[in-house]
Amino acid sequence: MAIQIMALIGTGVMGMGIAQIAAQAGIDVRLFDARADAAEQGLAKLKLTLEKLQAKGKISQQQFTDTLAHLHIVENIEAIAGVDLVVEAIIENLEIKQNLFKQLESIVSDSTILATNTSSLSVTAIASVLEHQGRMAGLHFFNPVPLMKVVEVIAGFATKEDVITELLAFASHIGHCGVRTKDTPGFIVNHAGRAYGTEALKILGEGVTTVSEIDRILREGAGFRMGPLELFDLTGLDVSHPVMESIFNQFYQEDRYRPHPLTRQMLAGKKVGRKVGEGFYKYVDGAKTNEAPRQTVPQVAAYSSVWIKADREQDAVILRQFIQMQGLVCDNAEQPASESLILLATYGEDTTTAALRFGVDATRAVNIDLLTDFDKHRTLMPSIVTQQSYIDQAHAIFARDGHGVSIIAESVGFIAQRVLAMVVNLACDIAQQKIATVTDIDKAVKLGLGYPYGPISWGDVLGSERILLILERMYSNTGDQRYRPSPWLKRRSALNLSLLHSSTI
Ligand SMILES: NC(=O)c1ccc[n+]([C@@H]2O[C@H](COP(=O)([O-])OP(=O)(O)OC[C@H]3O[C@@H](n4cnc5c(N)ncnc54)[C@H](O)[C@@H]3O)[C@@H](O)[C@H]2O)c1
Repeated sequence: MAIQIMALIGTGVMGMGIAQIAAQAGIDVRLFDARADAAEQGLAKLKLTLEKLQAKGKISQQQFTDTLAHLHIVENIEAIAGVDLVVEAIIENLEIKQNLFKQLESIVSDSTILATNTSSLSVTAIASVLEHQGRMAGLHFFNPVPLMKVVEVIAGFATKEDVITELLAFASHIGHCGVRTKDTPGFIVNHAGRAYGTEALKILGEGVTTVSEIDRILREGAGFRMGPLELFDLTGLDVSHPVMESIFNQFYQEDRYRPHPLTRQMLAGKKVGRKVGEGFYKYVDGAKTNEAPRQTVPQVAAYSSVWIKADREQDAVILRQFIQMQGLVCDNAEQPASESLILLATYGEDTTTAALRFGVDATRAVNIDLLTDFDKHRTLMPSIVTQQSYIDQAHAIFARDGHGVSIIAESVGFIAQRVLAMVVNLACDIAQQKIATVTDIDKAVKLGLGYPYGPISWGDVLGSERILLILERMYSNTGDQRYRPSPWLKRRSALNLSLLHSSTI
């Protein structure tokens, strides 16, 4: 690794995080900030962090001393001459960043690599003012830097290949996973991350269920670490809403990224999340105070026989076995008997549409989501005319073995189905546009967003044919362009290939 000495410009939250991990890896770091005392304050804070790490036994006394010995404040920006790499982490403003890089070019040698930690500006646009544009790249870390182990290495239009190679080696030297990406809006993580929140907002906006239930289904059923709405509260809508609008507009109003008016309203009403005590939930001392409890399981005196129809035979088998294990009777006739509960398991459609497609009585129909693990959480969707007694029976049956059950209103697909299909589809589109390799997309999203799988691998785990079915039906039932399946997904599903398959061309 050729980088021995680096400069860090802008010693705020991100700058000091980057300085910390570089110094811990033995790189000499020169710190510069335009604001008087900012670097001293940043270094003092970092010293406290390192003291805490030492007290917890995470670093030794020697490592503590060595790390601090690698950090040097410079009062004058000219003093960074001679470094191998400059990382900029100043205010997010194109003109100010361009002016800084022009100045830096007059200070450092021609071989010095220049990198920006911008999260939303174009690296190509920042580099455009330079004489030697090939030496400039993006190096996008995530907050908090020492814990978020991924860094996007962004190639602008002019970035030279050896600069990317050097930065990937630097990333790995400082203990991070470097992922290579093209200079496109949101790069990988902030681009792929659009699916989760926007689809959840759309579901909430359609009145499918409550905030608490959406979060619960996606946490307990689909396996996300946090629900999308509680995540909005944590991040703050003052941060998330502008990012949603910016990515949508940078892609010229592409429907896949369409934000929702609800968050604009909440932002206007200053209900931005946890830090102000109210967002999607209310908070006291950072703790939620109004999360809705689980829906109460009804008491059912007598059960009808259960007639089952599923899109996939293996789903019908799971349901039949479950019903029998509960000591209930399966109605195995071709058509449901007049009193039977009609249990459907379908993908990418509402229950009214499913009942009509199978030619059965919608007033006794309840649909169940079998996309995610049946042994985690169960979501049931009656039709708009399903009788309450049948809803109660289905609820009680699926709660009998202690699992959480959510009853949702009709939706053009179950909540987990809609959100997961959007997550996988968007990642496939990122691969299709060759913004990054499938491996890098998976690594970046897993590390950057904490999903249980990378979004492309997740598609394989769930089965690309099911993801495609959900999207095709949603697209045809709604006419909304946001659901059109990615060609990447369509081709691989048609050929029965892994979504990780990349062509050689
Ligand atoms: N905070 C995040 O979560 C996050 C994540 C990824 C990327 N980023 C990006 O990192 C950059 C820094 O963000 P931050 O959150 O650390 O900001 P910050 O406000 O904590 O720190 C910015 C620092 O830059 C200094 N500064 C401003 N203009 C300067 C100039 N012309 N020359 C030298 N120093 C200057 C400020 O005095 C301040 O100390 C931004 O581009 C931001 O978009 C932030």
